[in-house]
Amino acid sequence: MQTGEPSRTARAAAFHRAAHQVLEHGRIFADPLALRILGQDADAVAREAEARPSGRRMRIFIAARTRFAEDALAAAIERGVRQLVVLGAGLDTYAYRSPWRDRLRVFEVDHPSTQAWKLERLAEAAIPVPAWLTFAPVDFERETLAEGLQAAGFDAAQQTFFTWLGVVPYLTEEAVWATAGFIASLPHGAHVVFDYGEDPALLSPEVRDSHEKRAAHVAAMGEAFVSRFTPDGLRAKLTGLGFSEIEDLGPRQIASRYFPSRASSAPERGGHILRASTVAGSTTGGEDLPAA
Ligand SMILES: C[S@@+](CC[C@H](N)C(=O)[O-])C[C@H]1O[C@@H](n2cnc3c(N)ncnc32)[C@H](O)[C@@H]1O
Repeated sequence: MQTGEPSRTARAAAFHRAAHQVLEHGRIFADPLALRILGQDADAVAREAEARPSGRRMRIFIAARTRFAEDALAAAIERGVRQLVVLGAGLDTYAYRSPWRDRLRVFEVDHPSTQAWKLERLAEAAIPVPAWLTFAPVDFERETLAEGLQAAGFDAAQQTFFTWLGVVPYLTEEAVWATAGFIASLPHGAHVVFDYGEDPALLSPEVRDSHEKRAAHVAAMGEAFVSRFTPDGLRAKLTGLGFSEIEDLGPRQIASRYFPSRASSAPERGGHILRASTVAGSTTGGEDLPAA
């Protein structure tokens, strides 16, 4: 990120969510606050998106990753989870439309510059900050998540759900593993959803070409891709940290789940969405937490 500036890719991700509401009518992921928090009207968003048709793939990926995360979160809440941490929140709107209200505590963790900008955006959009939300400014490259959350009043004794969308590719591996290690170390269990890009060496020439264009685009915004993974290497590392349940969707599985009409043309390798849990049977079977 550029020193002292909010994340430009956070604005880009919020733009894609807003454009998905307008162009695909929120078919994969419906977000009634997406346009408001962005501060643009539907026509302007449609014009900007249609001027760059190559953005469609990323728009659909962002809609799918958010839907996947919120579905997994809903399942965890049904099983008794009452604490959510949104890591690298950007202009994510979950906290402001949470149907759980004060039964779900939410912490938004983000780089201080992006968080300050979000507060301005919320004020301009007249979106109130709910009582169940706490902001925790943290630079993952300079401070530990544990310290930032502790200062914000996070309850480490509660089973917690973490969303970490669109952040991992921009962090050093050291910062990625420090954060994942903290999540895995929580004594009463934790769940995390994040997305990652596969090592470009594994990609088909066509996907690698589009990946390289995107990498150059985000690097020009001052937010270069730093970390990529192989699915097997990532799984081994997460298992070693203590994640016992891992669901990792590659491009074909994402397509067949969220836009089946395109599944046959989806590449085998590319962007992944992953859910990991230290609680065995967190979506099927397993013990429910006592009601909070
Ligand atoms: C692509 S945006 C994703 C935002 C949001 N999760 C979404 O899906 O719209 C990347 C986010 O990572 C955050 N980020 C990048 N580097 C960071 C760092 N070193 N510490 C904290 N946050 C960071 C940015 O501030 C930004 O909010």
